[in-house]
Amino acid sequence: MSLEKKLRVGVLGATGMVGQRFVTLLADHPWYEITVLAASPRSAGKTYEQAVGNRWKMSVPIPEKVKNMVVVDVSRPENVVDKVDFVFSAVDMTKDEIRRIEEEYAKTETPVVSNNSAHRWTPDVPMVIPEINASHFDIIPFQKKRLGTKRGFIAVKPNCSIQGYTPALAAWREFEPYECIVSTYQAISGAGKTFKDWPEMVNNIIPYIAGEEDKSEQEPLKIFGEIENGVIVKAKEPVITSQCLRVPIPDGHTASVFVKFRQHPTKEQLIEKLVSYRGLPQEYALPSAPKQFIQYREEPDRPQVTLDVNYEHGMGVTIGRLREDTVYDWKFVGLAHNTLRGAAGGAVLCAELLTKLGYIEAK
Ligand SMILES: NC(=O)c1ccc[n+]([C@@H]2O[C@H](COP(=O)([O-])OP(=O)(O)OC[C@H]3O[C@@H](n4cnc5c(N)ncnc54)[C@H](OP(=O)(O)O)[C@@H]3O)[C@@H](O)[C@H]2O)c1
Repeated sequence: MSLEKKLRVGVLGATGMVGQRFVTLLADHPWYEITVLAASPRSAGKTYEQAVGNRWKMSVPIPEKVKNMVVVDVSRPENVVDKVDFVFSAVDMTKDEIRRIEEEYAKTETPVVSNNSAHRWTPDVPMVIPEINASHFDIIPFQKKRLGTKRGFIAVKPNCSIQGYTPALAAWREFEPYECIVSTYQAISGAGKTFKDWPEMVNNIIPYIAGEEDKSEQEPLKIFGEIENGVIVKAKEPVITSQCLRVPIPDGHTASVFVKFRQHPTKEQLIEKLVSYRGLPQEYALPSAPKQFIQYREEPDRPQVTLDVNYEHGMGVTIGRLREDTVYDWKFVGLAHNTLRGAAGGAVLCAELLTKLGYIEAK
């Protein structure tokens, strides 16, 4: 697809860690052009460079074209919506505030593609990993009806913690996985932090991430759910129990997973399903799509964060150590980049698919 003119995009929460990822991913995007950067009233009125100050956390410098853009206040949509065709949202506010502000933008006929969790369980809001459940975008007309909009809606991407194992479970659905144990080993960037601003994490593991276990257990079920009567009804299986640990890693969430299946796949079948798994992003060759969504590594010591986290520019998923288990049927280890596939990159891929499917277009 080639757009005649780039779509104008705003980033809400542009100064935060996920916002910075959006900015770096969008700076040279073939379809989108950043026209608005918004953050809290603390940042409003400053240039982006001043507002970010010493909080810039990306390994590449602030893109030249946004350095001098003046940041506006997220809570003043009237200063944003005429300058954008859609927005990405990555604000850190209370859930109620986020729900309200994202609906406010949608009601101005501005589509919102959100990284936040606030609307993940709103029954007519699609929560999408584009390779897996793009069909959930079919719920958007029902949501627009509720909001009273023609083009405005909210779409979200799921939590970063589920990205290392949900794709494998999706690839294996015909074998009917029905019960899983998941332990996640999550990077500090998932909390918006680096070692500089979270020195307690050096040489440490913290066995608690607020709210993360519920997300890790429940969100895959919405992804595997079906649309019924204008709402997304979550699947009943696989039931998942999880523990989520924060580990001293800058980027990359690892998951150790045990699965029981109703069917009896062989190892060869399981690996074949992983590596052949494709979705609409691959079919349409979307700009941010990994060519190969899931790679399987045969080496006994993979996936490793340092070797595999940037697979397919951080948009691919690496699975390894697949072997039979003595209590469960199979076990494996998965790895995904939490701020790319798991946050801003996943949201950009959602937006690209929404653009390709005609849900996002020029105002
Ligand atoms: N980090 C991850 O990997 C990750 C993954 C999935 C989801 N998330 C979620 O994504 C959101 C952003 O995370 P983050 O790590 O980027 O957080 P962050 O670094 O703390 O950034 C928060 C952003 O929100 C803005 N903000 C804060 N209070 C605001 C207010 N009252 N009004 C308007 N804007 C306000 C901040 O602007 P100022 O700079 O002006 O304060 C900043 O731009 C959070 O909801 C988080 O739970 C993060």
